[in-house]
Amino acid sequence: MSSQRISAPNKKSLQTHLQALLQDYEASQIFVLCDENSLRHCVSILQDCHPVFRESERIVCLPAGDEHKNIESLCKVWQALSQGKATRKALLINVGGGMISDLGGFAAASFKRGIDFMNIPTTLLSCVDAALGGKTGINFNGLKNEVGAFCPAKAVIIHTPFFDSLDWANRCSGYAEMLKHGLLSSVEHWNEVLSLDLDHCQTEAFGEAVLHSMLVKENIVQQDPTEKGLRKALNLGHTIGHAFESLSHHRKEPVLHGFAVAWGLVCELYLSAKLLQFPHARLQEAITCIKETYGAFHFTCEDYPFLLEAMHHDKKNHDAAIRFALLSDIGNIHIDQSAEEKLIAESLDFYRDVFGI
Ligand code: GLY
Repeated sequence: MSSQRISAPNKKSLQTHLQALLQDYEASQIFVLCDENSLRHCVSILQDCHPVFRESERIVCLPAGDEHKNIESLCKVWQALSQGKATRKALLINVGGGMISDLGGFAAASFKRGIDFMNIPTTLLSCVDAALGGKTGINFNGLKNEVGAFCPAKAVIIHTPFFDSLDWANRCSGYAEMLKHGLLSSVEHWNEVLSLDLDHCQTEAFGEAVLHSMLVKENIVQQDPTEKGLRKALNLGHTIGHAFESLSHHRKEPVLHGFAVAWGLVCELYLSAKLLQFPHARLQEAITCIKETYGAFHFTCEDYPFLLEAMHHDKKNHDAAIRFALLSDIGNIHIDQSAEEKLIAESLDFYRDVFGI
């Protein structure tokens, strides 16, 4: 379930790689899927690199935002493929963030029982997470990613200069998944991620760290493509992070996904220290970086019932227990760890303590 990963750190290499890749590919037709943001900031750059991005009748543009990752948008893509007489040898190129690669991947996986697709991630978050690993799908019936399929992109093309058009908050959001990959892999990669400068996405060091981060995910996905076991490790920080995200939506003050994950990491590393002796010095390193980068998410003990309820609804739990992927050290992963509500509440107390809220 792996995708060819192609690094194109500048416009010249983007042009060379796109030309070689699309020439080798010999697709019957090529379609491009993007959203309003990636159309404005990224497709315009791609137009200088390959003529396919200038064929407006083959470009499908969706409104931006996760609320559009729905059946109507999916139909729009199927319609464009069908009206454009796409055959099974057609290729779909998804240019955008996670919403576009998830939806476009699923449109491709299902059209004529499956056509090939490539991802060109335009956000840091989608580059190190959604564009890679074969999870595709849409939201349905009020539930996130309710309908979808495991189907990897043929290739993922990484052009880090795209991330320069991201605002600071969206860079931080992607960086949280890089912190997670650092914790899941090795002290070396953890230190590499901690030393990154988010102000400069065009540097060689930044590009290398992104590739290493993608490799961490790819290694895990290769061992467990359909999340029967090890892939659950990629949920580190997400069980409590998703609960923070739900609370922020409930308050109608939504936070970006990566911010919630970073805050969730603080609590889940605390659980790791309590249950598996994760080293306190590493916990402190993570806290220092997360406090500095993300600030604090505010909640009180009155929010605990809402947060615990949200954790119980996590679709990865199949019985009454709340389960986590935890660490006994950097790179030492323990999946399917359950924690009592009392200990989870203690981790929330710990969070409020370290953030002084
Ligand atoms: N985003 C987690 C995964 O791909 O499994």
